[in-house]
This record gives sequence, structure tokens and C-alpha cells, in this order.
Amino acid sequence: MILYGVRWIAKLTMLFAAPLCAVEYVGSTACSPCHVNEYDRQSTSHHSHALQRIQGTVLGRRLLQQGRSPDGRLGYESSPDGIVVHEKDAPDVLLEWAFGAGVQGSTAVGQLGNQFIEHRFSYYSRIQDLAPTFGHPPRVITPIAELGVLQDSKTITRCFSCHGTGAQQTPSGPDLTGLLPGVQCERCHGPGSSHIQAVRDGAQLAIIRREIANPGRLPALAQIQFCGQCHRLPGPDTGDAPELENPVTIRFAPVGLLASRCFREGKTLSCLNCHNPHEDLKPRTDLSYTRTCVRCHAADTQSVKLCRRKQGGICVTCHMPQGSVSPYLTFTDHRIRVVDSKSSAKGRNGAF
Ligand code: HEC
Ligand code: HEC
Ligand code: HEC
Ligand code: HEC
Ligand code: HEC
Ligand code: HEC
Ligand code: HEC
Repeated sequence: MILYGVRWIAKLTMLFAAPLCAVEYVGSTACSPCHVNEYDRQSTSHHSHALQRIQGTVLGRRLLQQGRSPDGRLGYESSPDGIVVHEKDAPDVLLEWAFGAGVQGSTAVGQLGNQFIEHRFSYYSRIQDLAPTFGHPPRVITPIAELGVLQDSKTITRCFSCHGTGAQQTPSGPDLTGLLPGVQCERCHGPGSSHIQAVRDGAQLAIIRREIANPGRLPALAQIQFCGQCHRLPGPDTGDAPELENPVTIRFAPVGLLASRCFREGKTLSCLNCHNPHEDLKPRTDLSYTRTCVRCHAADTQSVKLCRRKQGGICVTCHMPQGSVSPYLTFTDHRIRVVDSKSSAKGRNGAF
């Protein structure tokens, strides 16, 4: 099962790295005539706005309204291609991109010469204001550091390929010529030209389906691994999620879910049991979450335990509590379990 998942992801990754000549990205609007339902919801979703041109975004508007950074040291000015940042002892930077749809936060990324730079100030919706970007060093000592953190070409290519569709890695940096900003249809389903051609040619259903990837056909573990290529996975090979006990790991849903007994002993639980990949998050009070729990933890299923504490109510309130990794960023603990409320309050809301 593991091999199947990894092979499948490798296949998708290959497609993204070097699309076959015959298979091309066509953009989400090309899918809309035949898949209206998916298109209508997905095209307005946070996934689809995870990366945008900075002009007109909440972040962009805020920078220009303010005109200066919170510490007063940087000036912002509108330009046709984005927002120019002035620092008196450093060259100008052009901010072109807003990363993050703005649900919790949005970070500006731009270029300084031929290098990409992640700006030192981000917009946070909790305070509806600018504040230092999460994860950046608290003190800056050089004029360049006033502007932000320079990212090497491999790192920045990863940023664009988790937040966008069709970014390519080249030796000299990311190739963004074919980039569709945001997590669009073909980021999850692969380039769509041959699928559409097959429909137009009147090909058999099996061929129409073969020409497009459907993660819904994968077993649960491979589905989690699929979402985990961006939402992070445990282990040294797959990325940068810290170990399970680190409070920051609450940010990485797949790491928590894979460690929970509901997944390990239940086997069939995946992200898709609780989330529709084409829609935004449902609030935690939505009864569909509880329905998922009681599919396995119900009075008439003898195989798994019942909650002695409460058999009605919203299960996720107690068993998937929220925690904060920074003053402005809150996440949901996906390691479903009996959470020790005293230690979790201390561990999760303390230094982070
Ligand atoms: C001209 C119509 C048409 C267009 C355009 C089109 N599709 Fe489809 N798609 C189909 C048909 C027909 C099927 C088969 C329906 C079925 O599985 O019963 C299908 C099936 C699918 C499936 C399910 C495959 C499976 O294995 O079950 C996915 C995913 C999909 N399309 C994604 C896309 C994406 C993404 C795009 C845009 C890049 C797209 N489609 C464009 C007609 C179209
Ligand atoms: C290409 C990378 C990528 C893949 C693959 C991906 N996601 Fe995401 N996901 C993101 C990013 C980036 C965001 C943040 C969007 C934003 O800026 O608010 C996100 C946000 C979300 C959210 C929060 C949405 C909201 O309303 O705020 C959910 C839920 C989610 N993803 C679930 C999934 C599931 C389930 C899968 C697998 C089927 C998946 N994602 C696959 C990149 C990805
Ligand atoms: C491995 C995939 C991946 C990479 C690489 C990545 N992101 Fe994200 N990013 C996500 C996902 C998934 C989310 C939604 C869940 C979350 O917030 O952690 C997200 C959320 C965000 C948010 C929303 C606020 C927040 O922190 O939740 C911002 C801003 C952001 N990313 C900026 C960036 C920037 C800038 C880079 C590159 C320097 C980057 N990301 C690299 C996957 C990625
Ligand atoms: C974040 C990843 C992601 C994005 C972006 C995405 N999909 Fe999907 N799509 C999925 C997953 C996962 C499934 C399987 C859902 C399931 O089986 O529960 C799926 C299933 C489908 C299906 C099959 C539906 C069925 O009933 O079997 C179609 C058609 C489809 N997607 C079209 C689209 C179109 C069109 C877009 C863009 C407008 C899109 N998808 C964007 C992940 C994604
Ligand atoms: C048993 C149900 C369940 C499963 C399975 C599940 N989630 Fe969630 N998820 C939730 C709930 C509940 C929330 C919080 C909703 C809210 O507060 O609005 C959430 C929130 C999120 C968010 C928003 C940020 C946050 O942490 O609050 C992301 C991103 C996310 N889930 C991704 C995933 C991914 C990826 C998977 C698969 C590895 C997954 N989820 C599996 C129930 C689930
Ligand atoms: C696919 C089936 C399945 C689903 C869905 C599921 N669980 Fe479980 N869960 C299990 C199994 C199996 C175990 C371990 C054996 C047992 O406790 O009976 C378990 C264990 C637990 C435990 C004890 C964990 C521990 O570490 O001691 C809690 C608490 C729990 N589940 C709550 C939930 C909640 C809340 C939900 C919904 C958000 C949920 N489960 C969804 C199958 C599932
Ligand atoms: C008000 C908080 C709360 C709610 C709501 C809640 N639980 Fe629990 N649950 C607990 C606590 C605390 C425990 C630890 C055992 C105890 O003290 O009774 C527990 C234990 C469990 C266990 C493990 C039982 C065992 O014997 O190991 C499961 C499974 C479980 N809950 C599932 C659920 C499900 C499913 C729901 C929703 C229908 C739910 N819980 C709603 C607080 C809650």
C-alpha cells in the first residue's frame, strides 16, 4: 500500500517536473464546462487563492494604505508590476506575490536582483494589520535583512509549487512562465489536455479516466500522502515537518492524523472523510465531523470504544482541540485522541 502511494506521487511529481510533450496544462476554466460543480466551488476557494499577484489583495492594499512599515523604516509605493519597497541603504525590492489567501495571514514575496526575498512584514487577519513574518529572525542587523529573508532557488521553487500550479525548477531558479497562481485543478489532477482530447475524440470511459489522475481512487494512506506533499508528512525524506511532540507540528495535519489510533487501527480514515477538496473548511460545529466519528464509534459497532464522557455533542471540540503556533496563527490538532487539557494548554499556548 505504501509503495503504491509513493509510486503514484512519484508519477505525479514527474509530471509536474517534466510534462510529456503531449500533455499540457490548460487552466481551470477549460474544465468548467464539463465539471461545473467542482469548478464553481473550487475556483472561489482558499486553495485557489493560496497565491495571487499582490495588487488588489488585502495584503497589497494594506501596505499601500500604510505607506510605511510598522517600524517606520521601509516605504511602500505602487508600481505597474507590484509594490516597490524602499530602504535607504539597500536597493529597491519589487514585491509581486501574495502567498496565503489571507484566512489567517498573507506574506509578500518579491525580487531583489535575480534572487527572491520573503518580505519581513506580513498581514494577519486576527489583528487586521501588518506584523513581522512568522519564523523570521527577531532582530535585523543588515539593510538587506530589513527587507526580509533571501530564499535560495530550491526553496522558493517549493514555495511556488505548494501555492501554485505548474512552477518548474531550473538550475537558475524557478521557471514561472507557465505558472497558474493558486492550487488549481491541474495541481491535484495533473495536466488536463489529453483528458479533454480523449472526451472530444469520443474515447472509451476507461481512457477518459486514465488520462486524468483522481486521488479519490487511492487507498486512505496514499490519499493522506497526496495531501501531505503540501500539508507535510513525517520523516526525513518528505520534508520539513518537525517531530510529533513539537508543538509546531499541530500545523501539519497529516503528521497528526497518521499518528492517531483512529487512522492506525481504523485504517480507512483519510482527509477526504472530513474535507471536500474542492471546498473551503466547514466550521468545527458542522455535524458532518461528528458523523464521521460515529461511523466507527457508535453504539452498534462493537469493535471500537465509545466515549464514556459524552455520547452526543461535538466530538472534535474535545478530541481535536485548537492550538496556536504564534500569536496570530491557530491550527487544529489532527492527532485524534484523549487530550490532556492541562498539559496541552501549557505546551501549545506557551512560547509559540
Ligand atoms: C469536454 C468535457 C470535459 C472537460 C473539458 C474536462 N473533463 Fe474531466 N471528465 C469528463 C468526463 C466525460 C469524465 C468521465 C466521467 C465519469 O467518470 O463518469 C471526466 C472525469 C474526470 C475525472 C474523474 C476521473 C476518474 O478517474 O474518475 C476528473 C478528476 C476530471 N475529469 C478532471 C478534469 C479536469 C481537472 C479538467 C480540466 C483540466 C477536466 N476534467 C476537463 C469530461 C470533461
Ligand atoms: C499543491 C499543494 C496542496 C495540496 C496538494 C493540498 N493542499 Fe490544502 N492547502 C494548500 C495551501 C497552500 C493552503 C492554504 C490556503 C490559504 O492560503 O488559505 C491549503 C489549505 C487547505 C485547507 C484550509 C482551507 C480553508 O478553508 O481555509 C484545507 C481543509 C486543506 N487545504 C485540505 C487539503 C486536502 C484534504 C488535500 C488533499 C486532498 C489538500 N489540501 C491538498 C496546499 C495544498
Ligand atoms: C511543502 C509545501 C509548502 C511550502 C514549500 C510553502 N508553503 Fe505556505 N502553506 C502551505 C500549506 C499547506 C498552508 C496551509 C496550512 C498552513 O497554514 O500551514 C500554507 C500556508 C501559508 C500561509 C498562510 C498563513 C499561514 O502561515 O498559515 C502563508 C502566508 C504561506 N503559506 C507562505 C509561504 C511562503 C512565503 C513560502 C515560501 C517561503 C511557503 N509558504 C512555502 C504549504 C507550503
Ligand atoms: C487540492 C486538490 C484538488 C484540487 C485543487 C481539485 N481537485 Fe478535483 N479532486 C480532488 C480529490 C482528492 C478528489 C477525490 C474526491 C473523493 O473521491 O472524495 C477529486 C475528485 C474530482 C472529480 C471526480 C468527482 C467524482 O465525483 O468522482 C472531478 C470531476 C474533479 N475532481 C474535478 C476538479 C476540477 C474541475 C477542479 C478545478 C476546478 C478540481 N477538481 C480541483 C482533489 C482536487
Ligand atoms: C476526523 C475529521 C478530520 C480529518 C480526517 C481531517 N481533518 Fe482537517 N480539520 C478537521 C476539523 C474539525 C478542522 C477545524 C475546522 C474549524 O475549526 O473550522 C480541520 C481543519 C483543517 C485545516 C485548517 C487549519 C487548521 O488546522 O485548523 C487544514 C489545513 C486541514 N484540516 C487539513 C487536513 C488534512 C490535510 C487532512 C488529512 C491529513 C485532514 N485535515 C484530515 C477535521 C478533520
Ligand atoms: C475509521 C474508523 C474511525 C473513525 C472515523 C474515527 N475513529 Fe477514533 N478510533 C478508531 C479506532 C479503531 C481506535 C482505537 C481502538 C479503540 O479505541 O477502540 C480509535 C480510538 C479513538 C480514541 C482513543 C485514542 C487513544 O489514543 O486512546 C478517541 C478519543 C477517538 N478514537 C475519537 C474519535 C473521534 C473524536 C473521531 C472523529 C473526529 C474518531 N475517533 C474517528 C477508529 C475510528
Ligand atoms: C466534553 C468533551 C468530550 C466530548 C464532546 C466528547 N468526548 Fe470523547 N472523551 C472525553 C474524555 C475526557 C475522554 C477520556 C475518558 C473519560 O474520562 O471518560 C474521552 C474518551 C473517548 C474515547 C476513548 C474511550 C476509551 O475508553 O478509551 C473515545 C473513543 C471517544 N471519547 C470518542 C468520542 C466521540 C465519538 C465523541 C462525539 C460523539 C466524543 N468522544 C465526544 C471527552 C469528550
